Amino acid sequence: MPSVLETLERYYDAAPRSSADARSVGPLTLFVPRAGWPYYARPRLWLDRPLTVADVLVVRARQRELGLPETFEWVSQTTPSLEPVARAAGLVVSHHPLLVLAATPNPTVPTTTAVRPVGADDPDLDRVLATVALGFGAPGVARGATGPAERDAHAADSDPLRPYMRARLAEGHSVMVAAYDPAHLEHGPLAGGSHSPVGDVTELTGIATLPAARRRGLGAAVTAALVADAQARGVGTVFLSAGDEDIARVYERVGFRRVGTACAAAPAG
Ligand SMILES: CC(C)(COP(=O)(O)OP(=O)(O)OC[C@H]1O[C@@H](n2cnc3c(N)ncnc32)[C@H](O)[C@@H]1OP(=O)(O)O)[C@@H](O)C(=O)NCCC(=O)NCCS
Repeated sequence: MPSVLETLERYYDAAPRSSADARSVGPLTLFVPRAGWPYYARPRLWLDRPLTVADVLVVRARQRELGLPETFEWVSQTTPSLEPVARAAGLVVSHHPLLVLAATPNPTVPTTTAVRPVGADDPDLDRVLATVALGFGAPGVARGATGPAERDAHAADSDPLRPYMRARLAEGHSVMVAAYDPAHLEHGPLAGGSHSPVGDVTELTGIATLPAARRRGLGAAVTAALVADAQARGVGTVFLSAGDEDIARVYERVGFRRVGTACAAAPAG
């Protein structure tokens, strides 16, 4: 039986392939997007030797040639050799709590929140994607001024990621939900998130709440609804990486537990 980190490693290697071509560059795999999301490089699956600075520099050169961001992602416990060589190759490394849903989760949606699935043809899809984009534009867990008016203005602008996300939803690669205030449905979607099942495993991604609607349970409700959807599909392993420790608390309340540290590396700035 594979360990939980082996299960995640297999998922990390498989999931980008629905939208990107996997190219071997030495001991790393570079995901070259066919459209949409700008992917990164990762250690090759079941890599059996430590990585070197030269390995990272060769990938960075290939990424520059292809016009891709010079980014890398990996799990610290699975590939400990990558962090020091990524730094030595000039990259800045960030750490993110890696969490897996415990065997006894607590996926309750507060009754003060209405959460529903949002498919590729949903009339609210652009507003949900604008909600997520603005949510990530204000990192952390603090409340802020940005609310429904800014969301609607953002939704009216074009965003190259929207057709990509619509196609993923239509093809069943991703599932999205949105949260509303049931007493004020006219305020529209206030939070959203998605998950992307591959076989028996799924990762929750893109969970965000409009800054003006934060700290009233919407983020936890979106997380719980995604968990419930994954479990209804028979998914056995549900995981995510949280931006930081404060954000991880939101997920821990829903029943996620820390299993490791996800790392990301990118050039400074
Ligand atoms: C992380 C994020 C999605 C959380 O959304 P949220 O809707 O504020 O989440 P919740 O309301 O469920 O929980 C946030 C806090 O509000 C508290 N809270 C929830 N309901 C509350 C209520 N009715 N009254 C007071 N506090 C409440 C929670 O206990 C939690 O407190 P904590 O920070 O001390 O742990 C949001 O901050 C966000 O969009 N951040 C930027 C994007 C991002 O980083 N996303 C995560 C990527 S992994």
